[in-house]
Amino acid sequence: MELDSSFDIPPSSIPYYRVAEFASNLRVIIEKDYAAMSRRAAGIIAKEIRSKPNAVLGLATGSTPLGVYQELIRMHETENLDFSGIRTFNLDEYYRLRPDHPESYHSFMSKNLFEKINVKPENVSIPDGMATDIGLFCENYEKRIKDAGGIDIQLLGIGRDGHIGFNEPGSSLGSRTRLKTLTEETIRDNARFFDNEGEVPHFAVTMGVGTILGAKKLLMLASGSNKARAVRDAIEGPVSAQVTASVLQLHPNVFVVLDEEAASMLSRSAYYVYVERMAEKFEAEAGT
Ligand code: F6R
Repeated sequence: MELDSSFDIPPSSIPYYRVAEFASNLRVIIEKDYAAMSRRAAGIIAKEIRSKPNAVLGLATGSTPLGVYQELIRMHETENLDFSGIRTFNLDEYYRLRPDHPESYHSFMSKNLFEKINVKPENVSIPDGMATDIGLFCENYEKRIKDAGGIDIQLLGIGRDGHIGFNEPGSSLGSRTRLKTLTEETIRDNARFFDNEGEVPHFAVTMGVGTILGAKKLLMLASGSNKARAVRDAIEGPVSAQVTASVLQLHPNVFVVLDEEAASMLSRSAYYVYVERMAEKFEAEAGT
C-alpha cells in the first residue's frame, strides 16, 4: 500500500496546531503490522495511566488486544508502569459460562493481563454472566462505571460484522449494558476458541453502544485483511446500527489504530497518514 506520496508538503495556510485540532476527534493511525499496532496502542494506554494513576480503563478480550496486553506487561516489568491505582471494566462476558471456564472472559483477562500486572483484584470488574438477575446486574454495572467517575479510555476490537463489544448489527445506538443474542457469524468466529461450535455460548452480557460512547476516549484496534471491510464501513460508511462501530464517528475523542491490512479498504489512507504525521509533529513541538 502506497501511503506516503500524496501529501508531502504541509499547507502553509493551516498552522500545525490547527491540523492537530482537526486530527483530535477521530485519529486514524495506520501501522505497518500487528506488532507495531500493538506497541502504538499500548503507548496510548500507558500515557493515560502515567498522566492519571487512578485512571479507569475499559478493556476488551479477543485476539486483537493480546499484543497490547503483552506490551503493557513488558512496560510494567521493565518501565515501572504502575497499575496499583487503576480500575478496570471489561466490555463483556459470555452468558452462563462459569468464570473459571478456560474460555470465559474472566479466565482470558486473568491469564493474559491481570495475573502479570499489579492491578488490585478489587479494582477489576467483568460482567457476571452467571448473575441470577441479569437485568439487575446490568443496572448495577452501569452504576459502578458511573460511580468510578466513568471510563477514561475504552479499548475496543471490531467484529467482522462491525460489532463493538457484543453489540451485533441492529443493536440500538443508545443501548446500555444488557444481555445480547450473538449472531451466527460471531458464534462461528468465536468457535476457534472452543472444542467445537456447539460449545460456543449464544448469549453474552455486554456494555451497550451508549455505554461505550460514554467513555471519555475510545481506542479501537483492528488487524488483518478479514477486518478491512468492517473498518471501512465503520470509519467511512454512514453511522448506522447495522455497523455499531460506526458510532465512533459521533464520539469527540477516538483513536483507531490499524495495521496496513486492516486499513487496506480505506479510501483516504494517504490523508490519514498525512494528518497523523502533522499531529505527531505538533505533539513533539508542544511536548505532549
Ligand atoms: C471482546 C469484544 C469483541 C471483539 C471482536 C473482535 O471483548 O468485545 O467485540 O473485540 O469480536 O474479536 P477479535 O479481536 O478476536 O477479532
